Parts: sequence; C-alpha cells; structure tokens
Amino acid sequence: MDNMKHKIAPSLLAADFLHLHREIEMVNKSEADWLHMDIMDGVFVPNISFGFPILNAVRPVLKKPMDVHLMVVEPQKFIREVAGAGAYLMNVHYEASTHLQRTIAAIKETGMKAGVTLNPHTPVCLLEDIIHDVDMVLLMSVNPGFGGQEFIGHSVEKTARLKDMITRKGLNTLIEVDGGVNRETAGRLLRAGADVLVAGNFVFRSPEPLQTIKDLKAL
Ligand code: DX5
Ligand code: ZN
Repeated sequence: MDNMKHKIAPSLLAADFLHLHREIEMVNKSEADWLHMDIMDGVFVPNISFGFPILNAVRPVLKKPMDVHLMVVEPQKFIREVAGAGAYLMNVHYEASTHLQRTIAAIKETGMKAGVTLNPHTPVCLLEDIIHDVDMVLLMSVNPGFGGQEFIGHSVEKTARLKDMITRKGLNTLIEVDGGVNRETAGRLLRAGADVLVAGNFVFRSPEPLQTIKDLKAL
C-alpha cells in the first residue's frame, strides 16, 4: 500500500531561513509527505548547511516525518543526534561509510528507517550486498552540496537499473531521487520507478509552493 503513490519531500535547504516557522507551516499545510533536511560538513561536500539545532527547533512544529540526509564524513558518529531530533529516516552516503552494514544496523536499532545514498558516479551494482538491509536508496541526481543545480540526465537510467535490482530481489526498498527535480524531470523519474522525489528550489522558490507540491503529487 505504501508504495502505491509517490511521495514528495520538499528540501528545507531552499527555504527562507529568516522565516523558518512560516516555511514549516507551509509544509504542514501542503500535500508533502516528508520534509527533507540536508546536513553538510564542508568536508564530504564543499559547503556547510545547518545542523542538529535546526532539526531540534523544527521538530515540535513540523507535522510531517523528517527525512535527514547527512553529507558528512563519518556519519555513524551522529546517529544518536539524528534519532534524538526525532527523525523518521536517516540517509548516509555509501562513499562516506567504511562499515556501512554496521552503520545501517545502528540506525535501525534506534527505531529510525535507514537509507543509503549514492553520489552520481557511484554505480547501483555496489548495492548488491547491502540493499536487503536498507529501507531506502537515495540517488543523487546532482553532485551534493548545493541546491539549484542542473539535473544529471543519466539519473533516469540509473533509477531504472536500481528499480530492476529491487524487483529482481523481490524487495520493497524505496527509491528516492534528490537534485534538480522539477515537473519535467519528476515525470521521467517516476516512470523509471522512483518512489520519493526531493525538491528544493522548485518548491520553495516557486510563486505558489502549495500548488507546486500539489502538482508534483498529481504526476
Ligand atoms: C543537494 C541536496 C538537495 C538539495 C536539492 O546537495 O542534497 O537535497 O536541497 O535542491 P534542488 O531541488 O534545488 O536541486
Ligand atoms: Zn538532500
């Protein structure tokens, strides 16, 4: 049942931070399924966004599950902080995790769902021996670190290949795609098998974010 309709996760990175409360109320009122939250460390990616104080500040007013994307080295060090902030799902990068199986197990032990994230250059075949342990795979369709970048077209074919692997193994792992999502790229990703679409600038910088979310849900 959960897989029947695709989910939309607006990315807080593109929100107006001076009026964060107002932005959260918009998300609450919208048809969005989750709120995507990007944590960066300036090491794994060439940018710094926000950290746990923002997650903790948002949690009491947010009525949607938090989908947290860690773009940091050694993400396993922060499992307790992410769980403590009330996150629903924690995504760690494949490229940042030497002992990924252990990290995934530790995330699940807290009660959170666990996601593994792939940079654009990391092939889905590397998931062969971990996919059965994760709840979701997050495919980056831009190089992580910044919002508003151009969608990498190859991500559509990559999504289809991942969908194929999941089907072949009889799993129900979700596929989330993040970066450069707009109405056009969203349609292509959904047809390729994506279950969750992250959208930052396309939602928050649109004249009518509520309607934009509604349009993405209706695809
Ligand atoms: C990029 C982040 C994304 C970002 C997407 O590093 O992981 O979640 O907010 O932004 P848009 O949708 O504007 O490409
Ligand atoms: Zn993200």
